[in-house]
Amino acid sequence: MRVIVADNYEKLSALAAAEFAAAVGANPRATVMPATGNTPMGMYQELAKLRENDGTDFTGLTVFQLDAYRDIGRDDFRSLYGWMMRSFVEPLGIPEQAVVRLAGDAIDPELECASFEQRVHEAGGIDITILGLGPNGHLGFNEPPSLPDAPTRRVPLTPESLVSNSVYWGGEEQVPTEALTAGMTILLAAKQVLLVVSGESKQGILARTLDGPIAPGNPASYLQQLPNVIVFADRAAWGDRALP
Ligand code: F6R
Repeated sequence: MRVIVADNYEKLSALAAAEFAAAVGANPRATVMPATGNTPMGMYQELAKLRENDGTDFTGLTVFQLDAYRDIGRDDFRSLYGWMMRSFVEPLGIPEQAVVRLAGDAIDPELECASFEQRVHEAGGIDITILGLGPNGHLGFNEPPSLPDAPTRRVPLTPESLVSNSVYWGGEEQVPTEALTAGMTILLAAKQVLLVVSGESKQGILARTLDGPIAPGNPASYLQQLPNVIVFADRAAWGDRALP
């Protein structure tokens, strides 16, 4: 695990984008799994600029959806599929056919999760994941407690996630109480993991993720064991600790 502390959110976004673009340059047909949430949005805007200004080509990527609210259709503007399409897939010119959706509204969620895992397996796994850090240490919607071998599955959201997601839904009561998430096995087996962490509110969970016990109570702590993880944090998230 490598940690890069950037002076501010803009620099974090530019550094993470440069790392991702370099990885895509080395493997233009990579399979990728990009988070939604607020933190990677600056990074995605930087990627779109790299495409426009430097001609970086992202069109060969295959994109796998990281997570989805249960029972929210693809056309609902609050769906994580829609958010991923608007913020990542479309600005980077990736064809829609190259997107593997995790259908939160599937009639049979267990079957949907199994067939999604199968698609990931057939693609040879995920080359690059872009992850945000949940306030409770969740990765995707792998809520605590999550074991490192947790498969793609249907999960109830924790009270903490209901609160943190309520801003997107106009109140805690409106937030769907369940989600589907790519499993820990998929995330931890990715060939490269880019974790982006911003803001003072993430200081405690970031410190525990980097230095705390490796345990299901903080799913992100399992990243400590992997060599191929780069954590991009801004100063606000890093706090007053000595720089790495
Ligand atoms: C989003 C996702 C979540 C977020 C996490 C951090 O697809 O999977 O795990 O990455 O909740 O969210 P932000 O970046 O909004 O703090």
